Amino acid sequence: MSEDKQFFGQHLFICMNQRDDGRECCAERGAHAAQKHLKARVKELGLSRSGEVRVNQAGCLGRCEEGPVIVIYPQGTWYTYVDNEDLDEIIDVHLVGGKVVDRLKI
Ligand code: FES
Repeated sequence: MSEDKQFFGQHLFICMNQRDDGRECCAERGAHAAQKHLKARVKELGLSRSGEVRVNQAGCLGRCEEGPVIVIYPQGTWYTYVDNEDLDEIIDVHLVGGKVVDRLKI
């Protein structure tokens, strides 16, 4: 393994799954706008450049009824969100501050 290869400290997966059969899905609950906001905010804070955080799109994460959902590793913490304020709180408190956002945890 190369010495200078960089790995991310925390990996955030956001479900972007779209269903066309009427069943619940994260895409119908704002996941696309949320993903854009997360990427922009993480970049703005310099977290992606420093290697602290990576934001990735995911397919169905299997918790559709609780969605929209995010999961952050290595902690394995699951969140839901409603708006950009919720996403900012997850970034500020969890990704930067290292604490769980209890009110959004699922
Ligand atoms: S559609 Fe998002 S968890 Fe299943």
